[in-house]
Amino acid sequence: MALKEIKKIGISTGGGDCPGLNAVIRAVVYTAVNQYGWEVIGIKDSFNGLVYPDQIMPLGLDEVKDILHLGGTIIGTTNRGNPFHWEKQKKDGTTEIVDYSDRVMENFEHLDLDALIVVGGDGTMKIAQGFFDKGMNVVGVPKTIDNDLSATDTTFGFDSAVRTASEALDKLRSTAESHHRVMAVEMMGRSSGWIALHSGLAGNAHVILIPEIPFSLDIVARFLKTRMEKGNKYSIVVVAEGANPKEGGESSIVGKRPDGTVLLGGMGQKVGSALGDLTGLEVRVLVLGHLQRGGSPSEFDRILGTRYGEAATHLIAERGFGKMVALRGTAIRGIPITEAIGETKKVYPEGTLVKVARSMGICFGDR
Ligand code: F6P
Repeated sequence: MALKEIKKIGISTGGGDCPGLNAVIRAVVYTAVNQYGWEVIGIKDSFNGLVYPDQIMPLGLDEVKDILHLGGTIIGTTNRGNPFHWEKQKKDGTTEIVDYSDRVMENFEHLDLDALIVVGGDGTMKIAQGFFDKGMNVVGVPKTIDNDLSATDTTFGFDSAVRTASEALDKLRSTAESHHRVMAVEMMGRSSGWIALHSGLAGNAHVILIPEIPFSLDIVARFLKTRMEKGNKYSIVVVAEGANPKEGGESSIVGKRPDGTVLLGGMGQKVGSALGDLTGLEVRVLVLGHLQRGGSPSEFDRILGTRYGEAATHLIAERGFGKMVALRGTAIRGIPITEAIGETKKVYPEGTLVKVARSMGICFGDR
C-alpha cells in the first residue's frame, strides 16, 4: 500500500477474549482522536467484520470513555473466523473451506481504512501477518490469558486470569480444609503452564502439574499420602489443562477448531479420579474454565492494555506496519509480527519460579 496520509483506522479483537481488551480499544481511540485527529472504527468479531463489512461500529471518545474497567470486548471477538480458511455454509447445510482474503482486502479499501490495529494471540497474529503480506497496513497488539507469546514479556489478560485463579484457590482452601479433601483444580493455558504456575504459587497450592514438566500420578499420590500422614488434612492440586502424565495415557484434547488448533479439557477430572483411586482420599474436581477470561481487568492489565493501545497508535503514525507492540523489560517496543508467531513461550522447568515453588515444598509430580 502506498504511503498516504492516515485519516481513518480500524481496530479488531480476535481469538479468545480476555480482561484488558477494552483498555486497548479506549487507548487507541483516545490517542488516535486526541493526538492525531483520526477517525476510528471498530471491526466487529475479529476479521468477520471485514468479511461482512456492515459489521462495523464507529468509535469516538463517547463510545469508549467508560469502558476501561469492563471485561470482554465491546467490539466482539471470535476464534473461528480465519478469512484465509473460511468455513462457508452451503445451501445443503454442509460447509466448504474458501479463501476470503481478497474480499477482506476489498472491504478494507471500501471502508477507506488506512490502517488496522489487530489485537490478538498467536492465531490472530498469523492472520494479521497474512494480510500484511497482501499489502494491508497492519499493527498488532498481543493478548492472551495464557501468556504464551514468546515475543513479549507479558500479554495483558494474564495478570487478571492469575488473580481470578488465585482467588478461587483461596476460596477452595476453606472448604477443602473443612472436609479434609483433596481439591483438583483444572486451569487454562493451552500447552503452557503459566497460569497454573503463577496462581498455584500465589494461591499456596501443594501440587502444580504443568505441560512443561511431565508428571507421574504415583509420585503425586505418594506426596498427598505423606502430607496426610504428617497431619495435613487437605491438599490443593492445580492441574494445567495441557498437563501431561509421564506414563502417557489419554491426552486432554477434546476437539479441534477449523484452523486446526486443539481444544483441551478433562485433565483435571482424569488426575482427580486417578488420585482418588491411588490414595483412597476424597477428591473433588473443579474446572475453572472461562471464569479465568471474565471479569474486570486487574490494575496491571488496565495499564498494560492502555500502554499497548497508545503505543500501537503511535506505531501507525510512524508507519511501523507489520509490527506488533511488545513489552521488553519496562519498555514497549515495536517488533516484527513474524517474531511473535514463531514460538510458543513455555515455562522453563529449571527456571526461577519453578525453583522457588520447589523450595516452598510444592510438588510438580516429577520427583
Ligand atoms: O487461549 C485462551 C484460552 O482460554 C485457552 O487457555 C483455552 O484453552 C482456550 O482459549 C479455550 O477456548 P474456547 O474459548 O474456544 O473454549
